[in-house]
Amino acid sequence: MKDLESVERCRVCGSASFEPILDLGAMPLANTFVRPDRVAEPEPRYPLELVRCLACGLAQLTVVVSPEIMFRDYAYSSSYSPPLITHFTALADELISRYVAKGSLVVELGSNDGVLLRPLADRGARVLGIEPAANLAAVANAAGVETWNEFFGAGVAGRAAAERGRASAIVANNVLAHIDDLGELLTGIDALLADDGVFVAEVPYLRDLLSHVEYDTIYHEHLSYFALGPLAALFERGEMALVDVARLPIHGGSIRILAARRGRRQVSDALRASLEAEADLMTSAPYAEFARRVVASRMALRGLLDAERASGHSLGGYGATAKGNTLLSYCGLGPEIIPYIADTTPYKQGLLTPGTHIPVVPEAELLARMPDRTLLLAWNYAEAILERRKDYLAAGGRFIHPIPLARLL
Ligand code: TYD
Ligand code: ZN
Repeated sequence: MKDLESVERCRVCGSASFEPILDLGAMPLANTFVRPDRVAEPEPRYPLELVRCLACGLAQLTVVVSPEIMFRDYAYSSSYSPPLITHFTALADELISRYVAKGSLVVELGSNDGVLLRPLADRGARVLGIEPAANLAAVANAAGVETWNEFFGAGVAGRAAAERGRASAIVANNVLAHIDDLGELLTGIDALLADDGVFVAEVPYLRDLLSHVEYDTIYHEHLSYFALGPLAALFERGEMALVDVARLPIHGGSIRILAARRGRRQVSDALRASLEAEADLMTSAPYAEFARRVVASRMALRGLLDAERASGHSLGGYGATAKGNTLLSYCGLGPEIIPYIADTTPYKQGLLTPGTHIPVVPEAELLARMPDRTLLLAWNYAEAILERRKDYLAAGGRFIHPIPLARLL
């Protein structure tokens, strides 16, 4: 594949008619942090534009950056976000109590550093991770969570089924949006899933993106922005069926969906009701409203930061997130405004944010430098971070929550 391909047809339904939603301009890749000695080298930028399929409703980007560029070496390590450890340990409990008998196989696609598979293995499941990032697969394997360093597809699925048997559960958390060829995903699931097995996936929910103006979660890794309607259409195509949904507060609002082979499980009332409640997402109005609110959000954030600086307050940032990089670039915030960003991930520390070149510093620097105001770029963890950084608040610091409209916490 070339570095960049444009999307001619909807990856769920094949339609070629799209309506624009929001154009964020040419942006660097959100997880490609820059080494300071390479700062003079040109940084590739790619168009970042969101459109909606007029036939099935899938919101999607207009381009696909090669997954080899984005995912082979990946800066995002789940276990450095403590709330994710809690979240996925709870999911392990739920999978074990409802779908996975002792000794049966769970395969996770995009298993990262093993944050879900480790507690599943501890609870008696057989586990196998499929993880394209070499650095993360190595971390998982070193910790005893068997992980194949591959992109999932029909070939890998067939091999896993032949070597391990078929899976009671295939799990894919925060990866469906990364996958361009969803047909290949369905073929792989078909080859690997037991007849009565379940496919479980968590994805950020388009409804929450729109209503909370989470425009910063738009970046090149996220090819698709899912609502239930397009997901139902997708599984139908694969002779499967979407059967249940639950909303989750994680990542600014997500859904956990359950799918099974067609006819194997009953469609829940919750899913039926949620699908009905999505009727407006097939019209233009909520998207036009969203685009207006994005512009207002940028103005409010810039206005608040200007006002804080005018009153003599020093600024910093917290959470070197991918979404933060969309936000910083779109709002035109560089090191002259946010001089550094504190983060827990050792791999990101010492590097510069893509495009805006703000230094990422160890988390402890927040207290050492003690900015009066800290832009919270990991706003999805606001509650946990306020609790974890009580020391900063006690010393008189305050966080700025950037969306939907910037405000001091
Ligand atoms: P997340 O919102 O999951 O990121 P993304 O937008 O990239 O999907 O946040 C993960 C980043 O935030 C990661 O670099 C670790 C950092 N982080 C902290 O520094 N402190 C914290 O308490 C948490 C929860 C995350
Ligand atoms: Zn479509």
